Amino acid sequence: MSAPLTDSPSVPLLRMRGVCKRFDNVVALAGVALQVHRGEVHAICGENGAGKSTLMKIISGVYTPDEGEIHIDDRPTRIESLSHAQALGIVMIHQELNLVPHLTVAENIWLGREPRRGWFVDRARQYDGARDCLRRLGVDIDPDAEVSTLSIGQQQLVEIAKALSMQARLLIMDEPTSSLAEADAARLLQVVQDLKRAGVGIVYISHRLDELEHIVDRVTVLRDGHYIATRSWGETSINEIVGLMVGRELTQQFPPATRLPSAEVLLRVRGLRREGVFGPVEAGEIELAGERLTIRSPRDAIAAGIAYVSEDRKAHGLAVKMSVAHNITLANVGALANGLGFIDATRERETAESFIRQLDIRTPSPDQIARLLSGGNQQKVVIAKWLFRQARVILFDEPTRGIDVGAKYAIYELMDQLAAQGIGVVLISSDLPEVLGMSDRVAVFRQGELASVLETRRCTQQEVMHHASVGLTESSKPPLAALEPIL
Ligand SMILES: Nc1ncnc2c1ncn2[C@@H]1O[C@H](COP(=O)(O)OP(=O)(O)OP(=O)(O)O)[C@@H](O)[C@H]1O
Ligand SMILES: [Mg+2]
Repeated sequence: MSAPLTDSPSVPLLRMRGVCKRFDNVVALAGVALQVHRGEVHAICGENGAGKSTLMKIISGVYTPDEGEIHIDDRPTRIESLSHAQALGIVMIHQELNLVPHLTVAENIWLGREPRRGWFVDRARQYDGARDCLRRLGVDIDPDAEVSTLSIGQQQLVEIAKALSMQARLLIMDEPTSSLAEADAARLLQVVQDLKRAGVGIVYISHRLDELEHIVDRVTVLRDGHYIATRSWGETSINEIVGLMVGRELTQQFPPATRLPSAEVLLRVRGLRREGVFGPVEAGEIELAGERLTIRSPRDAIAAGIAYVSEDRKAHGLAVKMSVAHNITLANVGALANGLGFIDATRERETAESFIRQLDIRTPSPDQIARLLSGGNQQKVVIAKWLFRQARVILFDEPTRGIDVGAKYAIYELMDQLAAQGIGVVLISSDLPEVLGMSDRVAVFRQGELASVLETRRCTQQEVMHHASVGLTESSKPPLAALEPIL
């Protein structure tokens, strides 16, 4: 691919002004401006639904703007399509994963631009090219593995490898670390630095404001589709950015700890054991409120009142093609049946509306298709679903990934309220401040074993890390996964 563009350092790579985009009755962007230079890492910050992804999709040719100017290398440009954007050197790593599950890693990386030998796809070059990109990211994923067998984090790494293979001049990363483990995220930030040094312009979107610290040159803040401000990173602070994002001051990160956990055990798990990743539990018992449970499938768990708010909300939590209202009531339609056994549409709507209000879900109406909501608002829909199902225990797996600071606080408050109502809340999180800010006790796992259970009030981040990584000496180790009362 020959880049038809000049490389003069004084001209911004991208300059846009007055960009507007509307979807039916939703104004996603109302007059947004942005400039990105070569070798610059430019962060876009804003709450869920602020318009960040929409703006990036305009730059990468997914959407055409209703109004506004786009200049690439000082030339007015209409970006017609994804392939046109790619020809201009613009590549986007999307917030939602776009891989084809039944193709291999290498096939996905080269999809639509397969290296050929004569009439045929050159499999060897395809494999080698994929391996090189993955190596550059420092990850150990087999290029021949089928994508459906990979974890979400691995899939995200494949997306990133794919973008790297395209030799972008302007690389857009929409929450690239949201499903990555710490080590992979750190390596990715290293790759961002390398690309920056090579003169690539990078637009970086992340709700993990702390990770911006080491990579970002400038930041542009959007709120409700409006352009708010652009600042040099050196001349601003996280507090100022958060203030600009939410339009008010956020003084607290976590709700005050006023609630006391009950002494009664709600969920008890003992000696739980399973070898390998798939397959049923081999030994151990699970008790809910003193009653022994047999859980063979998610259906059994749901029937018993145990809900799982998955980290992969698209695959497991959300019916993306259904409306917000259907999603909220999906797991408990029985409660909406009228005398004849039909679903009472008015009650369904009222229920959905009440959760939309309670959780401040930003959607034009309960009838909106879930896929069209911003990431954070999709997460709230999944939580609403389980609240309506009246679960007794809710397992939150990384519930605030991709969630903005304001909405995070709302989800924390919600978890607190659930616990105060007597619902057991299990929080799985790799965000240590979140773990310590929200929990009463921390169960630390290490290589499939319960390493220790700590009283949150009495421990520090360092101690949790220590138990997670170093672990205990052989003699003081508890028996395999002997998970004593956890709630
Ligand atoms: N294709 C679409 N159809 C209808 N509405 C849309 C569509 N895409 C986005 N929206 C709406 O436009 C607004 C901006 O969404 P966008 O995805 O750009 O937000 P975001 O800033 O990326 O949020 P997040 O941090 O949650 O990813 C939201 O209200 C969203 O629901
Ligand atoms: Mg987004």
